[in-house]
Amino acid sequence: MAHLKHRHAAPCRGSCTSRIRCVIPRAAATVDPLNLLKGIFKPANNGTPAPQGADFTKQVMSEESKYVLQTYARAPVVISHGKGAKVWDAEGKEYIDMAAGIAVNALGHSDSRWFAALAEQAQQLAHTSNLYHTQPQVELAKRLVENSFADKAFFCNTGTEANEGAIKFARKWARVRAGVDPYDANASAPYELVSFTSCFHGRTMGALALTYKEQYKTPFYPMMPGHRLAEYNNLDSARAVIEKGKTAAVFVEPVQGEGGITPSKLAFLKGLRELCDEAGALLVFDEVQCGLGRTGKLWGHQLYGVEPDMMTLAKPLAGGLPIGAVLMKQHVADVMKPGDHGSTFAGNPLVCHVACTVFDIINNPTFLTSVEQRGVRLREGLKRTMGGNPHVKEVRGVGLLVGVQLDVMAGPVVDTAREMGVLAITAGKGDVIRLVPPLVVGDAEIDKCCEVLGQALKRL
Ligand SMILES: Cc1ncc(COP(=O)(O)O)c(C=O)c1O
Repeated sequence: MAHLKHRHAAPCRGSCTSRIRCVIPRAAATVDPLNLLKGIFKPANNGTPAPQGADFTKQVMSEESKYVLQTYARAPVVISHGKGAKVWDAEGKEYIDMAAGIAVNALGHSDSRWFAALAEQAQQLAHTSNLYHTQPQVELAKRLVENSFADKAFFCNTGTEANEGAIKFARKWARVRAGVDPYDANASAPYELVSFTSCFHGRTMGALALTYKEQYKTPFYPMMPGHRLAEYNNLDSARAVIEKGKTAAVFVEPVQGEGGITPSKLAFLKGLRELCDEAGALLVFDEVQCGLGRTGKLWGHQLYGVEPDMMTLAKPLAGGLPIGAVLMKQHVADVMKPGDHGSTFAGNPLVCHVACTVFDIINNPTFLTSVEQRGVRLREGLKRTMGGNPHVKEVRGVGLLVGVQLDVMAGPVVDTAREMGVLAITAGKGDVIRLVPPLVVGDAEIDKCCEVLGQALKRL
């Protein structure tokens, strides 16, 4: 394929490892991207709204409960704006954002490069559907493919949709591989999908069937048939359910996020690869939370040197715009035909152009090393400020995917920390404090977070 024109919204700093040739003259590419916006968009107050009173907060919360379906137990805070790793609520209170919209805002809030890419593409073309070709989608796919194990990318809009896609691709792959006509309703082929205790793969019906927590599933019974559960990090348990002629695919998070920030053991992931190969099943890595730089590696599985057949991505890929992706080997891609799967919004030019900018910033050895170093600082800091507390069983994680395992529920600590100006979340059985800050979080912010969490735990 001829080289496509490579548009840089952010200045081309020579950090882009994509093999796509940049045809923009160097001088043009180094123009301040925000100059592009002069005269186009003038945010009121530089994007910093004036604080509102407590009445405003009450009104938003009360109207939320009146008009929005009540499926979230939200904290009693109205977030108004953000910059870097900080956000402010509508009353002007400042927080260090160690949640990053659940591991999404990789570049933090209001990053000028992100904003420039968004504005640049928005004034050109936002959406066309997949009825037509668009350049930004191809550019993003190229970056993902050329910097991973994969040969093809499929785009969708969320993490659960990425897993939903991977489930469909695996099911069809198993039918084709079994030598049956995949469109024959009476044909039989392997269709079982294996997942693991404490996993989280999403909440749509296919991904939900794989997800561990029973309370997420029971109200919506019956679940999709063909799911087998094995114990995480237990190869014997996996061996008992991965069967030749039955298993289509095995789904695993290289580092479990929602389940409690638990890294896979090396022998476990290696063993799963072997078991899948022996059984003729696909190995699927769900890197929706641990992928794209969060572990200090571009992909979480690079910590292990084990490659999947498919990988699902979402959260940080467009730094806050909705996007998901499934990356796959050619032998999987080969079974999918036009009409087999699709989505109206998926891979639209707006989100893909922004995602290219996010990808180019993260896919830089200096940036990835800084994530690793910030992660070390965070874990060491937490050990210093919390480690002596008898309620702390372990501080664990990798890169900026960090968990503090308590022997009590973490909710009250998270609530107190929020009152003290730090946003964190829970994980596991509710007994883990989960910290997934923007990958650009500063040292001072990390140190303050550790101090605040230490004090919040003491107040238990
Ligand atoms: C590992 C993993 N997979 C899938 C999902 C689902 O992603 P989404 O909420 O975008 O549907 C999540 C969300 O937390 C996740 O952590």
